[in-house]
Amino acid sequence: MKAIVQDTYGSADVLTMRDVDVPVAGDEDVLVHVHAAGVEIGVWHVMAGKPYLLRIMGFGLRKPKVQVRGRDVAGVVEAVGKNVIRFQPGDEVFGTADGSFAEYASAPEARLALKPQNLTFEQAAVVPISGGTALQGLRKGNVQTGQQVLIVGASGGVGSFAVQIAKAAGAKVTGVASAAKMDLVRSLGADEVIDHTREDFTDGTRHWDLILDTGGRRSLSDLRRALTPKGTLVIVGGEGGGKWLGGFDRNLRSGLVSMFVPQRLTMLASKERGEDFDALRELIEAGKVTPVIDRTYPLIEAPDAIRYVVEGRARGKVVITALA
Ligand SMILES: NC(=O)c1ccc[n+]([C@@H]2O[C@H](COP(=O)([O-])OP(=O)(O)OC[C@H]3O[C@@H](n4cnc5c(N)ncnc54)[C@H](OP(=O)(O)O)[C@@H]3O)[C@@H](O)[C@H]2O)c1
Repeated sequence: MKAIVQDTYGSADVLTMRDVDVPVAGDEDVLVHVHAAGVEIGVWHVMAGKPYLLRIMGFGLRKPKVQVRGRDVAGVVEAVGKNVIRFQPGDEVFGTADGSFAEYASAPEARLALKPQNLTFEQAAVVPISGGTALQGLRKGNVQTGQQVLIVGASGGVGSFAVQIAKAAGAKVTGVASAAKMDLVRSLGADEVIDHTREDFTDGTRHWDLILDTGGRRSLSDLRRALTPKGTLVIVGGEGGGKWLGGFDRNLRSGLVSMFVPQRLTMLASKERGEDFDALRELIEAGKVTPVIDRTYPLIEAPDAIRYVVEGRARGKVVITALA
């Protein structure tokens, strides 16, 4: 099969399209015929091997352990392992698989769900990681009806889902985005949008009950100034940290600082779970959440798709379509 492969860590230039063996699905696994694969910033991190913390965490010290890139996936079940009970060949599914920038990918059953009926494969393929992270982040923040919620990075992958999920939970949502993407955030249902290039949402004049931080990497003290006295901060991430920790030290510090202040400061380490994808399917089929796709690339142009995402230009999500 054709796949986007890398032999060393590096920029998108290290990626090539090559013929590789179709993966063999284990007893608990599902072999998916890939129709579309989502592109999110995590693909860039694994490709580049940065921050270096990733390499130590098991992604491969000198080169990536998994050579085929891509993780978000949507497609049709080709075959199932003997212990798989929820899926059968022919089912349309979405979820995460190691190496989804390929014609076929193998995924543990626990990381898949049935595809929402009202989405195309392309739309479904951008949901799992970003949508799952947004869902888990808002749950961790215990989002409530009527709360004032601030989504930092509202125009991005995680943020574009978070705005919609927080609205579905009955919150009053403020999105933070750059000027060119404010219209997108409004169209997602945000009650208000702040342009972070013109206005400092941490100047202490406004306060939110819950902040989901996905962009900009503002300091803990800045973010605390924008919280209500008993508000909650959930740090999801943000690019531009150091090459060793990628800013992860801020995430870790949040737990420590939280012990000494009345506000709740916490970080998210998201998990890829079929049950969360089921929950997202329900929101999507109910019309409460719709993935936003900025650009679609054919498989061979996967390097360009990654460059586009890492340059921070995407409005919502980017997706790769199958070869056919
Ligand atoms: N904790 C976890 O388990 C987990 C899971 C998934 C992702 N992440 C991390 O979460 C972060 C977001 O992921 P993503 O996929 O949503 O990335 P993304 O699609 O690139 O979105 C990030 C957003 O941040 C915004 N941004 C950039 N500079 C900003 C600034 N100075 N102030 C405010 N916003 C700014 C950008 O919007 P504008 O251009 O409109 O400013 C962009 O849309 C990444 O760092 C990723 O690694 C963590």
